[in-house]
Amino acid sequence: MSDGAVDVRHEARARAHDVPIEELNPAQPDLFVSDTIWPYFDRLRAEAPVHYTPTSDYGAFWSISRYNDIMAIDTNHRVFSSEDGITLMSLEAKAEAEKRPTRQSFISMDPPKHDEQRKTVSPVVAPANLERMAPVIRERAGVILDGLPIGEEFDWVDLVSKELTAMTLATLFDFPFEERRRLTHWSDMMTNAPGFGPVKSWEHKRQELDECFAVFRQMWNERVNAPPKFDLISMLAHGESTRNMDVHEYNGNLGLLIIGGNDTTRNTISGSVFALNRYPAQYDKLRAHPELIPSMVSETIRWQTPLAHMRRTATQDFEFGGKTIRKGDLVVMWYASGNRDDTVIADPYNYVIDRERPRTHLSFGFGIHRCVGNRLAELQLTIIWQEILRRFPSIELAGEPTRTHSIFVHGYETLPVLIPRRN
Ligand code: HEM
Repeated sequence: MSDGAVDVRHEARARAHDVPIEELNPAQPDLFVSDTIWPYFDRLRAEAPVHYTPTSDYGAFWSISRYNDIMAIDTNHRVFSSEDGITLMSLEAKAEAEKRPTRQSFISMDPPKHDEQRKTVSPVVAPANLERMAPVIRERAGVILDGLPIGEEFDWVDLVSKELTAMTLATLFDFPFEERRRLTHWSDMMTNAPGFGPVKSWEHKRQELDECFAVFRQMWNERVNAPPKFDLISMLAHGESTRNMDVHEYNGNLGLLIIGGNDTTRNTISGSVFALNRYPAQYDKLRAHPELIPSMVSETIRWQTPLAHMRRTATQDFEFGGKTIRKGDLVVMWYASGNRDDTVIADPYNYVIDRERPRTHLSFGFGIHRCVGNRLAELQLTIIWQEILRRFPSIELAGEPTRTHSIFVHGYETLPVLIPRRN
């Protein structure tokens, strides 16, 4: 770590401690870009685990920052509803969204509709289908890795993390394989605000997403008239609880699957390379014990926490942690903070690939919305690391990463690396 980085962290800690606790606001994308959010979460967990921020660019919201409190909120879907959205939206993005019909997906639904739609989609990521997909993912991972430059710097996010997730998603959707990077592009269009990622303006975002949904509408039309197949579009088009859904719901569910299967896994792949370089003894351990790959994958998912938060809306007044959350209030579960709660996870800032219970983390959420793709994500990551270790003695960081400007997607825009040689 450079001295500059130490200064930035020192200053961030001082700033986080100077703010009166009632004014503390963790919903600042800049803190995530500079990786200086952590002292804010430390302070919340220690001093105000159920905390109210009255004003911010995202309006007023409660922050839940401790591991067990997050579990309690996430598993209480009757009081903490998803119907009104599952992320904190900036006031600007909200005003923009209100101009257009909403795209609703089952992640932002409550039972019974949520449960019916989830049931339609989940077989595609069930163990039997994953077994069928594993050799395809392995072969495609091999092709990506064999094509990487040796002895020269390149961007790992672009050439590996995005490619591998786009390939897997194209397989899930049975999307034209040669056009797979359009999925990456649309995911970036969906998650970014104007001025960030590929989004130039709200109008630009609208146009590109209209195109995305037109392509998927055409795929629906083709598949609804063909015999059912084992891809996500065909399953939605033929599923009893989804075949009559309106266009906004279809678009919403597509958005969910595109983002769900894309940013999260992409940022875990990048996070693993970053973390193993930051903690070289762990990289040595992994090389000596490749059987630790699945546990390293879970540790990376915890350490990275690819989605920093999920949000709920209170359906009634509710006493929690000595505070009264009012009906209609927005409640943010900061998974990134819960995963650094040392009352549940020992030495949580440390990256340790052979923890005793590596799947003890909040990154996939809990309760009825727990990530439906979690086993697929773990499978992809396990396969890619098996293939990496077979090919390369090391992947070395060649500079600092740049991080995503978001309080939701917790990841990397670029990660410069160098592979010195093949095995
Ligand atoms: C490391 C990778 C991943 C992470 C960290 C992650 C994280 C999450 C989180 C936090 C939730 C919400 C949980 C809650 O509210 O309690 C979620 C839900 C979901 N995820 Fe993932 N996800 C990942 C990979 C995937 C993949 C690969 C797919 C699909 C192909 C996927 C599809 C979904 C879907 C459809 C939901 C909505 C489930 C529901 O509302 O019932 N995710 N994910």
